[in-house]
Amino acid sequence: MIIFYDKSVPYKRDKYDGKEFRDIDTSIVVTHMMLEIEELGLGTTWIGSFDSDKLIENYDVPENQIPAAILPIDCPSEEPIPSKLHFQIKSISDFVYWNKF
Ligand SMILES: Cc1cc2nc3c(=O)[nH]c(=O)nc-3n(C[C@H](O)[C@H](O)[C@H](O)COP(=O)(O)O)c2cc1C
Repeated sequence: MIIFYDKSVPYKRDKYDGKEFRDIDTSIVVTHMMLEIEELGLGTTWIGSFDSDKLIENYDVPENQIPAAILPIDCPSEEPIPSKLHFQIKSISDFVYWNKF
């Protein structure tokens, strides 16, 4: 599955800094799709590294649609081989910061 968002639909934090929410909204949807795929007994992973220009060129993509993610879907291997990154656990202090507010 290829998941797109529509760049013509604005959803911004207009009142403040104008931050766009499209990636966030798409991530929530894609995450739920991944959970449902798992629930159906299938497997997937989020592919975010792809040539979006080529993808748009090769598929008949409607105007304003931005490809956000590809979800390959199949039966998971019975003997999966995890990537090296799977075992590289960062320390919590690398990404959690405590601050006095
Ligand atoms: C935003 C995003 C983009 C990703 N892009 C890719 C990708 O292009 N190729 C890929 O193999 N995995 C991609 N992944 C999948 C991660 O690598 C995956 O979550 C990770 O392999 C989890 O592996 P683990 O369960 O073995 O830790 C992406 C994940 C996220 C959240």
